[in-house]
Amino acid sequence: MAVDGDFFVIKAKENGVHVIGLTRGHDTKFHHTEKLDKGEVMIAQFTEHTSAMKIRGKAIIYTKHGVVNTDE
Ligand code: TRP
Repeated sequence: MAVDGDFFVIKAKENGVHVIGLTRGHDTKFHHTEKLDKGEVMIAQFTEHTSAMKIRGKAIIYTKHGVVNTDE
């Protein structure tokens, strides 16, 4: 399967922000947790394996749908 899912960017506004990837398919489970410290940026994509993501902590999330501040 081609990996052509949307990208999004997460910028941590504090230490210890977690980016949690959830599996695609019948089971929706955590498959990866990435920890970001303040100022760190992660560029990620929706893939064959990743259908959703959960962001825990203060961060700014940039997607093609807009910008979300988790603490607002
Ligand atoms: N191995 C994962 C995948 O290909 C890597 C990944 C992509 C990921 N996007 C993610 C992990 C978002 C955590 C959050 O799907």
